[in-house]
Amino acid sequence: MTEESLQAFIQKYKDIIDKRLPELIDSLETPPNLKESMIYSLNAGGKRIRPLLMLAVLKAYDSLFDDAYDIACAAEMVHTYSLIHDDLPAMDDDDVRRGKPTNHKVFGEAIAILAGDALFTRSIEIMASETNSLSPEVKIRLISEFVKASGPEGMVGGQAADLNGEGKSLSLEELEYIHHHKTGDLLTYSIVAGAIMANAPEQDIEKLRSFAKALGLVFQIKDDILDVEGDASLIGKPVGSDDDKDKSTYPSLLTLEGAKKKLAYHAQEAKETLSKVSGNMALLNELTDYIVERDH
Ligand code: IPE
Ligand code: IPE
Ligand code: MG
Ligand code: MG
Ligand code: MG
Repeated sequence: MTEESLQAFIQKYKDIIDKRLPELIDSLETPPNLKESMIYSLNAGGKRIRPLLMLAVLKAYDSLFDDAYDIACAAEMVHTYSLIHDDLPAMDDDDVRRGKPTNHKVFGEAIAILAGDALFTRSIEIMASETNSLSPEVKIRLISEFVKASGPEGMVGGQAADLNGEGKSLSLEELEYIHHHKTGDLLTYSIVAGAIMANAPEQDIEKLRSFAKALGLVFQIKDDILDVEGDASLIGKPVGSDDDKDKSTYPSLLTLEGAKKKLAYHAQEAKETLSKVSGNMALLNELTDYIVERDH
């Protein structure tokens, strides 16, 4: 696939997700400030990388269908909830996200916490009850993978370990645990969910899971690097936030140069694993390069 067609893929499907996300909240009967707060963070922008990965897997098996967009939106909702909570004063205490004031700066901490809670529960409601073309078996499998990836053994566990690690010098193994869980698990879910919905062979699903695990590490190492040498106006969040909080990151543990070597190593690992999957994986291969090379 040429770079031009990767850009066309990103633009086309990002637009669909951007449009659908607020629709899935707007119809709710809920206090106006809560609704506004949920829509504020969903509409603030974002690369939509988790939905794009899910849809790219469906396309690889020529199996994209309408309800998949809502499943993709549900993954983006949990990601957005994790960002709202991640920015709270009790966590990373950041004031800018996606180029705008963070949710708690606009709506206050209490509503920001509730907006996160509401995005999570709404995402499960969408998966359970608004995707009629999926069989009950597929829905249960998707929801099981989804809550596992989001919960104490997934994203929430990774976030707790990240906070526990502040001010300490962690081993590379401990840092990998944090990155796999706080970031990798939801990316992995997005890729595996695409494969489950596409009815991909089980051996492909497991290979895609390994690919995604490496890709999750790549994604968070790059995020750590951008926190050191990124351009705040492009990344839409402050540079130097990790250093301010004395976080263990790849650059703090291995130097910037060492972090870049690890990034290249795990990107190669991801691509080698992907090459063993049947189906047309060209788009996912391109998305891997995009994640490595991104400037935001
Ligand atoms: C930022 O995620 C937080 C991490 C898990 C590294 P993204 O870089 O995907 O943020 P958005 O969605 O584009 O704002
Ligand atoms: C956040 O990691 C991961 C989750 C929100 C689950 P970071 O704290 O590094 O993300 P940014 O840099 O604030 O986006
Ligand atoms: Mg954090
Ligand atoms: Mg943060
Ligand atoms: Mg970061």
